[in-house]
Amino acid sequence: MWHLSFFFLLFFILTSPNYKTFTSTATSLDILDQTCRTCADRSIVFSYNVCLTSLQTIPVCHATNLQGLALIAMELALENATTSISTINKLLTSGALDPFALACLEDCLKLYSSAVVTLIDATGAFLTGEYGIANVWLTAVMEAATTCEEGFSEREEMECPLKKENYNLFQLCDIALCIINLLSLHVNS
Ligand SMILES: *[C@@H]1O[C@H](CO)[C@@H](O)[C@H](O)[C@H]1NC(C)=O
Repeated sequence: MWHLSFFFLLFFILTSPNYKTFTSTATSLDILDQTCRTCADRSIVFSYNVCLTSLQTIPVCHATNLQGLALIAMELALENATTSISTINKLLTSGALDPFALACLEDCLKLYSSAVVTLIDATGAFLTGEYGIANVWLTAVMEAATTCEEGFSEREEMECPLKKENYNLFQLCDIALCIINLLSLHVNS
């Protein structure tokens, strides 16, 4: 149910006439490229490539400003986390894992389940202009991805089966976080 209203809200925001758009001097692709570059320059873990390829998957006409890009990053993160939950459930029932891996996966499942709720809260906070709160919640989701990964690193020979999922969730949240920080700079200047 929340998912439906979320999409509705997103659609409403993106199509609202009050939704500020950049002038024709900058195309959507320029904004995408500039934003990803600026964020990559500000952080060593931020991936310019993930940023560019992730945000390019959406219709160009929607990516016309920073607010839109931040929302899209959060929507992608939500989609990613939701898909990861199904992946974890599949792994848990595959019968191919030892008790240590199963315990780690159970922990990750809890982390991802609450990450989904936190992402929805972060989006809500962002939409009402509470950038500071959105920032805190996105950071919490990134920590969840890191905690999941670290659960497996306790045993050296054990490769985390959710490496890709953790990485993607971390990067997508980092994109939203960076854009929200850029927006906060604009607000305060
Ligand atoms: C998760 O995010 C990554 C990076 O944007 C993307 O390549 C991948 O397709 C996404 N997966 C899902 C299920 O949304």
